[in-house]
Amino acid sequence: MASQIEVAEKKRVCVIGGTGFAASLLLKLLLEKGYAVNTTVRDPDNQKKISHLRDLQGLGELKIFRGDLTDEECFDAPIAGCDIVFHVATPVNFQSEDPENDMIKPAVQGVHNVLKACAKSQTVKKVILTSSAAAVSINTLSGNGLVMDENNWTDVEFLSSAKPPTWGYPASKTLAEKAAWKFAQENNINLITIIPTLMTGYSNASDISSSMGLSMSLITGNEFLINALKGMQVLSGSISITHVEDVCRAHMFVAEKESASGRYICCAANTSVPELAKFLNGRYPQYKVPTDFGDFPSKAKLILSSQKLLDEGFSFKYGIEEIYDQTVEYFKAKGLLN
Ligand SMILES: NC(=O)c1ccc[n+]([C@@H]2O[C@H](COP(=O)([O-])OP(=O)(O)OC[C@H]3O[C@@H](n4cnc5c(N)ncnc54)[C@H](OP(=O)(O)O)[C@@H]3O)[C@@H](O)[C@H]2O)c1
Repeated sequence: MASQIEVAEKKRVCVIGGTGFAASLLLKLLLEKGYAVNTTVRDPDNQKKISHLRDLQGLGELKIFRGDLTDEECFDAPIAGCDIVFHVATPVNFQSEDPENDMIKPAVQGVHNVLKACAKSQTVKKVILTSSAAAVSINTLSGNGLVMDENNWTDVEFLSSAKPPTWGYPASKTLAEKAAWKFAQENNINLITIIPTLMTGYSNASDISSSMGLSMSLITGNEFLINALKGMQVLSGSISITHVEDVCRAHMFVAEKESASGRYICCAANTSVPELAKFLNGRYPQYKVPTDFGDFPSKAKLILSSQKLLDEGFSFKYGIEEIYDQTVEYFKAKGLLN
């Protein structure tokens, strides 16, 4: 019923960063539900990057605008007249030698530029910002069995002083989310943040997402990415995984749910590299997933709790089995696995 009302009213929404892995699927789900959608991309002339968006235009009203997070004015036109804005884009450069300029500054600037355009519009009723578990779980606590919820914030002081590998990304996500809360409070914006964990499943974007490659590294045997996955457990305290479709569904759920407010962790499964390897080895014996990790911690230090999202009425469609079944099928279809 709710979706029929929305179809009748043709609510207009804007998705910032339409070329991305999650945003591409969010656009598809929004169009399928009858929303009129504006989206921004950095380079609308890059036909390869936006070809899937041209395909999505067959599903409904999808307008493509140019938008760079560092450009102050560019978000006014795509956001004008919208009811809801999903700010999904973020600069990602794990190899960066200058995280401050490559990720932190543009992420924070992007939040300000997008939220300023929302405030100017006078039509935007809700803004959904895609944050990350990387803005929640990185801390110097020790032990295991810790439970992280929406009250936890990543320790940016630790990140910027110790500078562990890839520190710029979690620092940028934490500082961008904090900047968003500050701006929203000062400017009376109804902000909600969704905090996803590592996303995988399938993709309708033109490029293969690096997070899918990371999630599949134990199966593909890519040593560099297996080490990155181990690094993720060491830095973040767990390997926490969610189907990208559930992450998009959670964005739409909080956008449509009147009572939703604040931060929402969206996490389907918490595990560790050795536990995940054991699970994958048992489920897909043909890929001979290695299960001996020597003295690498077999248990995760922490779990990320989605209890708040569940209490709000959300339910996950995919557990760890379905998440990997779909990712394996996707990799096979793309010729990335035998
Ligand atoms: N992937 C995960 O596992 C994961 C986990 C937790 C949270 N998240 C968060 O979820 C969101 C989506 O992640 P994703 O993996 O779908 O992202 P993605 O595929 O890496 O896409 C990133 C998007 O941001 C855009 N972008 C980067 N710099 C920009 C700039 N200066 N101006 C405008 N756009 C810019 C990119 O545009 P171009 O195509 O032009 O480069 C791209 O559309 C992000 O906020 C991310 O932090 C992701």
